[in-house]
Amino acid sequence: MTARRKLVVGNWKMHGSRTANAELLRGIVAAEPFAAEMAVCAPFPYLADVAAAAAGKAIAYGAQDCSAHEQGAYTGEVSAAMLADLGCRFVIVGHSERRALHRESDGLVAEKAKAALAHGLVPIVCVGETLLQREHAQTEIVVQRQLAAVLALLGERACEIVVAYEPVWAIGTGRTATPEQAQAVHGVLRAQLQSATGHGAQMRILYGGSVKPDNAATLFAQLDIDGGLIGGAALKAADFVAIGRAAG
Ligand code: 13P
Repeated sequence: MTARRKLVVGNWKMHGSRTANAELLRGIVAAEPFAAEMAVCAPFPYLADVAAAAAGKAIAYGAQDCSAHEQGAYTGEVSAAMLADLGCRFVIVGHSERRALHRESDGLVAEKAKAALAHGLVPIVCVGETLLQREHAQTEIVVQRQLAAVLALLGERACEIVVAYEPVWAIGTGRTATPEQAQAVHGVLRAQLQSATGHGAQMRILYGGSVKPDNAATLFAQLDIDGGLIGGAALKAADFVAIGRAAG
């Protein structure tokens, strides 16, 4: 028994073009309705196009990052206010690719989540361990540390976030965490959310990392897995739709 509606989010990463995106979105909205909540997180330049394509449809959309700053001389950055202005509902923060390639710290990720909430966006806060950390039995410590920074900064508003558990070794590798491995970490994260916010049972925790149409249903059937954050398979309408159905 759960009151949590499943959520399936496509993270397009740095893929797409206006033409390809339009075709992808056509394929997704043609498959409406979904029992699960569906969303796509597009590259910044395409958000206005996505907004137009999603108008009047059930699909929500968002961005893959935002600035921790409100506004000002931050060349190249995009503020949470700008994303809200474009009708975004979600913004991914702390994706492992940004943590690794842009050296984003737990503290910066927390600041970004705070900026998102301040502008009415739902931050999808990503956590996850590397293969080395898993092999050294550090998984729980790492994900709890990453999440704790966000929970501490957000205080009472922490219950408004979505969490995404994405083991780094499963991203883009075709190597999915087993449902049991994922559930174990999700259970730990839910307990942490519950003790920090008192609302852990209502909060959504997504799994990400090589989710495909053929493994989605088993993952989403786990007690504490409330949907997915989908990379590669979100770029093909048929696959993304199938994953959405697996959550329904
Ligand atoms: P893949 O589904 O391509 O493994 O990517 C997962 C991911 O990083 C989603 O944010």
